Amino acid sequence: MRVLGLNAVFHDSAAAVVVDGRIAAAAEEERFSRRKHGKRPVPFSTWELPEQAIAWCLAEAGLEPSDLDAVAYSYDPRLVDPASGGLDPGWEHLRTTYAERAPYFLRTLLPTYDPETFHFVRHHVAHAASAGLVAPFGDCAVLVADGRGEATSSLLGEYRDAKLDILAAQSLPHSLGLLYEDLTAHLGFARSSDEYKVMALASYGTPRHLPLLRGLVHAEGGGFRTEPLDWNALAPSRTPDGEFLDAHADLAAIVQAALEEVLLELCGWLWDRTQNPNLVLAGGTALNCVANTRLFAESPFTQLWPQPAAGDSGTALGAALTVAAEAGDRIEPMTSAALGRGFDDEAIEAVLRTARVRYERPDDLPDAVAAIIADNGIVAWFTGRAEYGPRALGYRSLLAHPSRADNVERLNDIKGREQFRPVAPMVLAERRPRSSPAVRCPVRTCCSFTMSHRNGETACRRSPTSTARLGSRPSTTRPTRRSRRCCGPSRLAPASRWW
Ligand SMILES: [Fe+2]
Repeated sequence: MRVLGLNAVFHDSAAAVVVDGRIAAAAEEERFSRRKHGKRPVPFSTWELPEQAIAWCLAEAGLEPSDLDAVAYSYDPRLVDPASGGLDPGWEHLRTTYAERAPYFLRTLLPTYDPETFHFVRHHVAHAASAGLVAPFGDCAVLVADGRGEATSSLLGEYRDAKLDILAAQSLPHSLGLLYEDLTAHLGFARSSDEYKVMALASYGTPRHLPLLRGLVHAEGGGFRTEPLDWNALAPSRTPDGEFLDAHADLAAIVQAALEEVLLELCGWLWDRTQNPNLVLAGGTALNCVANTRLFAESPFTQLWPQPAAGDSGTALGAALTVAAEAGDRIEPMTSAALGRGFDDEAIEAVLRTARVRYERPDDLPDAVAAIIADNGIVAWFTGRAEYGPRALGYRSLLAHPSRADNVERLNDIKGREQFRPVAPMVLAERRPRSSPAVRCPVRTCCSFTMSHRNGETACRRSPTSTARLGSRPSTTRPTRRSRRCCGPSRLAPASRWW
């Protein structure tokens, strides 16, 4: 079965193609339009479809629109409850109307596709499928914690033989994701965009008011409560270019801590009902790698797999997988996040020539890169297909010497980021530290605990001095021939915005 999956309702618009249970392509629209998150998550942008991502995914899979057996859309407007708390009654109907018309909007893009093949997939079922159907183990428990779907903000369930049993779902307006979004806006960052900055800022704070927050944000059975919070009583609101106060970091710290506590409680509830050692995560909060680390270290589950595209972009894949599985296709595991667009040698060389960038092709690329890093240079690493999801997982990255403390500042300057933002040490898998129980890597290429450097020592803990997520790769990983050609000798490659 050939299925095109779409995410277009909120943000991180994306497309994916699944052919006979195998993921052929998946990519966010932002990677083509260069517009971060594809579009703003407002009702009057719901009609916008990920045009370029759709075109690329179909081309990558070698399909014409008329070849499609199904189109899967990761939102079901029939499930929207206008009476749900937390929805804006003045605008929500517009989002619903646009979603209902999506099959026909798509027809304007793909005139030869058949709207009769269009399927609406419940948003959190799409999130769940994006992880549960492709994780590197079979049956599993699934935890989706999100901002919002049609009328809920979470889903707890279990996959058995590729069939999802939904055990619990939290109704709006209670939402861990929306709580975090509100805090993001209060701290002067972009709502539905910069939540990862809050996660980083939290490591600098002290959770002084956590007991107060626990009274408002806490787990309750397979759900939770997120009561309205007077943010200004805890820290003044910050403008986007305003100064960071200790109170801002403290506020981020208590919400981060509360989030982790609620997720741990949900994991305990899910474990009690499933007794399944495998847990998969999806939904926007599954991008919170600090929380994921606690779930891996402290929850009863022994294996954990977060979908790399845990945010809404991953629902394009999850919707397609859901329809394919329901049709009887056997779904193949997702073995890599490198599902996006790649470039062949000729295309890269043509760009370098046009830009008049001096380049060469080292005979031994690893040696050349190692020499640059040892000399405290910075390497822009570009290899293979782009990652699906927001995290750099080894295909679009900056590499620098990890033992030089000032390299964190250099990297953040190059990327135009706040200086509290973390970097990720990379180590060979067989050399990764094993002494601390916190140092266990839930996924091979993206680990999620924080490391700090202080007084010449490296420790696995949260610290205001510098933080990082550890990544590891097996020593057998070698650059492909394509990558050998696309990494130039420049000590400081032209800064781009891939990462
Ligand atoms: Fe979502």
